[in-house]
Amino acid sequence: MNSKQADAPAPDARRYPRSFEAEGKTVEIDELRAADEAALLAFAQALPAHDLLFTYRDISQPRVIKAWLREAVERRRMPSLVARLDGQVIGCSALIHDDLSWSPHVGELRVVVGPQARGLGLGRQLVQDSFAQALALGLEKLTAQMTTDQRGSISMFESLGFRPEALLAGHVRGRDGAKHDVVVLSHDVAEVAARLTAYGVGA
Ligand SMILES: CC(C)(COP(=O)(O)OP(=O)(O)OC[C@H]1O[C@@H](n2cnc3c(N)ncnc32)[C@H](O)[C@@H]1OP(=O)(O)O)[C@@H](O)C(=O)NCCC(=O)NCCS
Repeated sequence: MNSKQADAPAPDARRYPRSFEAEGKTVEIDELRAADEAALLAFAQALPAHDLLFTYRDISQPRVIKAWLREAVERRRMPSLVARLDGQVIGCSALIHDDLSWSPHVGELRVVVGPQARGLGLGRQLVQDSFAQALALGLEKLTAQMTTDQRGSISMFESLGFRPEALLAGHVRGRDGAKHDVVVLSHDVAEVAARLTAYGVGA
């Protein structure tokens, strides 16, 4: 890790927490905080097993949540958001990027919304906020990956300008041992930033 990473403020820190109205309820979208650990774990453990397959690691494991909090909260290396309703986490996102890799300009987006909260626009909000975080970090390309049967997820990302870029056959294996194909979608963030600049809008 370089010192620039360690000292960098969280992107868009001033925007959070903010409210999002969904079916008459006020959902709070905020940066992930250490105090979210228990609620985040409870959220992940209640997710259908198949919905966990797009995450690189199994976030239903307490040590994976701890490692995530270390990266996102202590080291501020992984911008992450949570959506809270009545003290519970109902959705979350993470933007993974590595300044020390050969792809410092690329970020990988992961977003999940609990089954009970889907279809209310929360997934779209989390992706849009993550997109703003990517712009603030100067990332040029965003990817998102999911199993090919996640039709709703693929539709949502495509409606936000992501396009299929790769198909990885049998790339993830569920707890039941079954392998699934994964589609990698990508988005040219740099092109959006250039367009905003052309219109005189600060990215
Ligand atoms: C993908 C996911 C985050 C979407 O969350 P959500 O809160 O339900 O999404 P939204 O309500 O914001 O819907 C966004 C758009 O996708 C569309 N959509 C959502 N589910 C859909 C489905 N099953 N079929 C078709 N379209 C769907 C909605 O119509 C909406 O479009 P609109 O705004 O034009 O109406 C959620 O389904 C999820 O967590 N899936 C499992 C994990 C996953 O696959 N994550 C993606 C990998 S990073």
